[in-house]
Amino acid sequence: MNSPFPVPTLSQGPAGLSLEDVPLAAIAQAHGTPTYVYSLAALSAAYNAYRDALAGRPALVCYAVKANSNLGVLSAFARLGAGFDIVSGGELARVLAAGGDAGKVVFSGVGKSVAEMRQALDAGIRCFNVESAAELERLAEVAGAMGKIAPIALRVNPDVDPKTHPYISTGLRSNKFGVAFDEALALYRRAAALPSLRVAGIGCHIGSQLLDGAPVVEAAEKVLDLVDRLAAEGIVLDHIDLGGGLGIRYRDETPPAVADYLAPLLALLAGRREELLLEPGRSLVGNAGVLLTRIEYLKPGVEKNFAVVDAAMNDLARPALYDAWHEVVAVAQRPAPARRYEIVGPICESGDFLAHDRELAVEPGDLLALLSAGAYGMAMSSNYNTRTRAAEVIVDGARSHLVRARENVEQLFAAERPLG
Ligand code: LLP
Repeated sequence: MNSPFPVPTLSQGPAGLSLEDVPLAAIAQAHGTPTYVYSLAALSAAYNAYRDALAGRPALVCYAVKANSNLGVLSAFARLGAGFDIVSGGELARVLAAGGDAGKVVFSGVGKSVAEMRQALDAGIRCFNVESAAELERLAEVAGAMGKIAPIALRVNPDVDPKTHPYISTGLRSNKFGVAFDEALALYRRAAALPSLRVAGIGCHIGSQLLDGAPVVEAAEKVLDLVDRLAAEGIVLDHIDLGGGLGIRYRDETPPAVADYLAPLLALLAGRREELLLEPGRSLVGNAGVLLTRIEYLKPGVEKNFAVVDAAMNDLARPALYDAWHEVVAVAQRPAPARRYEIVGPICESGDFLAHDRELAVEPGDLLALLSAGAYGMAMSSNYNTRTRAAEVIVDGARSHLVRARENVEQLFAAERPLG
């Protein structure tokens, strides 16, 4: 995979841009636009990079479902043997529907409801990542009432700065996530004393789109120190969950390769018996996907030229929300002249942009691919402006599978009623 693009299985050929062996133009023709297209080979390669780097030590890669929760994607990871990191009962239902193994599921999140706890206990998940004292008490009660024992890890907040976008940094003292380090010991003692809980592990997750592994190593050192202090008190943990967070290249970022990211962590863990759990999301799916969209209009302006496309901020929220950069590539190459365009959607907000100031040689009706859109793209989409959500396709070699049909408008308001 020697693609000039951040999406490793994307290539430019006589049929225009192809993902694996499927021309994107053929997908647009078959399924319309906007459509998310994912590469099974890229998903698998990303997963296998983790598997290979972890070979020889007890470890479980729990794919963070929130990054892309399409059943086709989940089933691909289930087949590869992945576990799953979920944050809602809905995500658990998806994992099970996709053939995932409940015994490999960890449940994160600060706001688990009683119903979600029951659902997860019934399914027999691997572990609850508990984020507060109040949650610990609630879980003990719920499990006790069901006559079950809930496996738990405390998600500790190691108070390290991951140096990423403030919206996606989670391991600082000022964030809402996890249990403060100083309180963790007392909370573990409490958990160990509750008969309906089983202390299974410890977890931490410091942020997302990390381009430097050092803060994670720093967090891991703190976590290991706590694990040893717990062991000295007779509280012995089975696993250490170091969360997700490894970044990807969107533009010119240079995140470490998975093996390089993990090497210092594996060195820290060398000789230790605990199983290592990881919760990667973005690094497994981000660069396995593109968002395919068609240009509706070109609108030359005095100050700026606009390319109005049929995808919008409801399909891909990241540019509007984080000012995120996604590479934009024309599916069919045209001879120059290129012009600079604002790539905008049809939504009635100035914040509805997908990319600023991109040089493209295009005509109305042309297809564009927004790259690196496999993570937090479709998963964060909405129906704003009563727009039906995009279709989703997985390509596998020369084959393509529609893994989500485009919504129709009737589905959007099927649960609504006019005043009678
Ligand atoms: N584990 C926990 C507890 C998390 O909160 C997250 C992400 C992950 C794992 C997966 O992190 P990853 O490997 O994907 O970095 N919507 C934002 C990203 C939000 C990430 C939230 N938590 C974006 O589009 O950049």
